[in-house]
Amino acid sequence: MNVLVFDSGVGGLSVLDAIVAAGVPVRLDFIADQAWLPYGDKPADALSARVAALLQAGAAAFQSDLAVIACNTASTIALDRARASLKIPVVGVVPPIKPAAAASRSGVIGLLATPATAARAYTLDLIARYASDRTVIRVGSTGLVAAAEARLAGREVPQAPIRHAIDALFNAPHGEQLDAVALSCTHFPLLIDLLAAAAPREIAWIESGPAIARRVADLLGLATNGKASPVRAAFTGQDQGAAVWPAFAARGFTHRFAIADGPEFSINGLL
Ligand code: DGL
Repeated sequence: MNVLVFDSGVGGLSVLDAIVAAGVPVRLDFIADQAWLPYGDKPADALSARVAALLQAGAAAFQSDLAVIACNTASTIALDRARASLKIPVVGVVPPIKPAAAASRSGVIGLLATPATAARAYTLDLIARYASDRTVIRVGSTGLVAAAEARLAGREVPQAPIRHAIDALFNAPHGEQLDAVALSCTHFPLLIDLLAAAAPREIAWIESGPAIARRVADLLGLATNGKASPVRAAFTGQDQGAAVWPAFAARGFTHRFAIADGPEFSINGLL
């Protein structure tokens, strides 16, 4: 079976890594819409049309059996539209507020997301539903998205966004009791070691990847003790994924494709 993982950039790799770690026996393809990165500052209407069209083109080209929108920002905006326009199951990510609330002993949790996700009604609703008895420190950062992209492109990782996020979490009111953080942007788990090293003490950093991996296996009726194989990755944007390709190749991807931008995307040219 072919599973298509989609993100604005490399963040979806944190979800892909979780599917590999869980041993869901599927072939994994990836679309990174780097031309529009970051999604956090794009208008919702244009974004939902673009995500649905890209997923349609990708699912047709790669004959996907299931698609994962491995991006919190795109999931909150485009999941319904993508489901309406694709004939295959589409899984979205949600901020892991429920597991973070369950992991906290102190009752103070953090939510680290893009500014768009941190402020969205959808997120506030999840907090009301799953963490109403918790104090939730919400922090929005676009700098961390850029930092994860830099890291996977082999460039120097800017330290300022990491310091800023840690300060905002731990120096907020009640921050001295913070003991779990919901990583609510798929780029952020790619920085967990750096965030943990900058934090004043050990806390739980919760990601949504493992839950997504279980959901993918359930929907496809597969056991989770097999082997996932990354295969094809397609990129929009000027360098068509050249800078980040080593991070994909290191995960086992073998084929790189370019996506020609336009109202109907075409995925062509094996690079
Ligand atoms: N990985 C996306 C997310 O989970 C990145 C956000 C962006 O492109 O702004 O929200």
